[in-house]
Amino acid sequence: MKQFSSFAKRLSNTGITELMHDLGEANKSKDPKICMLGGGNPALIPEVINTLTKEAKSLIDSSYFESSVAYYSSPQGEGTFISALCDFLNHHFQWGISTKNIALTNGSQSSFFYLFNLLAGDMPDGSHKKILFPLSPEYIGYRDLGLSDNMFFSKKPSIEYSDNKQFKYHIDFDALEITDDIAAICISRPTNPTGNVITDKELERLDLLAKQHQIPLIIDNAYGLPFPGAIYTESNTKLHWHENVILGMSLSKLGLPGVRTGIIIANETIIDHISNLNGTLCLAPNNMGAGLAKRLIESGDILTLRDQHIQPFYQQKMQAALTLAQNIFQSHHVYIHKPEGAFFLWLWFPDLTVSTKTLYQRLKARKVFIIPGEDFFIGIEPYWEHQYQCIRINYAVNEEKLREGLCIIAEEIEKLVASC
Ligand SMILES: Cc1ncc(COP(=O)(O)O)c(C=O)c1O
Repeated sequence: MKQFSSFAKRLSNTGITELMHDLGEANKSKDPKICMLGGGNPALIPEVINTLTKEAKSLIDSSYFESSVAYYSSPQGEGTFISALCDFLNHHFQWGISTKNIALTNGSQSSFFYLFNLLAGDMPDGSHKKILFPLSPEYIGYRDLGLSDNMFFSKKPSIEYSDNKQFKYHIDFDALEITDDIAAICISRPTNPTGNVITDKELERLDLLAKQHQIPLIIDNAYGLPFPGAIYTESNTKLHWHENVILGMSLSKLGLPGVRTGIIIANETIIDHISNLNGTLCLAPNNMGAGLAKRLIESGDILTLRDQHIQPFYQQKMQAALTLAQNIFQSHHVYIHKPEGAFFLWLWFPDLTVSTKTLYQRLKARKVFIIPGEDFFIGIEPYWEHQYQCIRINYAVNEEKLREGLCIIAEEIEKLVASC
């Protein structure tokens, strides 16, 4: 092959794919010394796996199986699942949505690819529009989704310090200017990588700004309510939807990343566009996630699963990870982002003078896999040294491995700080 296209250059050989390759190789390896603290796979929670196995068996025995595997759905997604979800959401949140407000995709990663490129990039009038991430760091998976250059723009947050080496990012509204080239505001809540849950007040202010500027507010709710419900704060968890909000949901973090099912809740015009993109790019989205989750949603059993197993499992993991990190890094100059949701610890080492990509390589040589922090600061302005001082670890892992990995991270940080 002499040459690949600009499309290939943009989408098929990014920094993220290189990292994913490393993580994939480490995951495949049977080396017992590996501490896998990278990646975003949800944990295998035994009760969740049991329930999904039962659902799969009863799906196979039902007439719904045929429509799940032997037919393409409409490009909007499998209709009976969409109806069940619509009733469920109206029952629990009183949004008054119709089935025309919901579309399915092949995973929310595809949802964001669609949404960002529908709303921003090169516009028919010759202008160029961007997606604003009002709080950086933000989900690394957004980074390479733009089909044109310079599509993302993000702002430095303000920092609130609290006891026991903890901190929390807040949106710096004073620095947030919505210029004419901003096509939409997007935020993940809970946030990957930090576990932040922006407060209800912050969300209300973003909502108001979006309305005032007549641009949509995209909320990525991959870890949020009503499922999987990986949230550990009592307050500030209000789920928000109206015609100007585009809500992204997913079945992945519930325990179904393999069936690739994303959900978009938006006004009818956006949903029509999503359906058309599904039609063009994949004819129809996957039906298997819808098939597996439909009965759980109709019966409300999905909430029992969340309340009795998923949420307590991750909350216990979070508490154990936080205590471990506070003990292991007791004498270090480190801050830990308040883990309010998702399943990541975000560690900030202010004395680190090499980049976290260098730290990543040193840790990889010792078989500890983390995600270096700098790539999460997507399109940030102005330059901020903080972005080279943070790492993300996934704590939804075996506690012994987590301890081992954190101890090795502490040793490497000590060596690096001593050598500068
Ligand atoms: C914040 C966030 N959004 C979206 C996704 C994409 O998830 P999926 O495509 O499996 O639905 C992820 C995956 O890790 C994520 O962390």
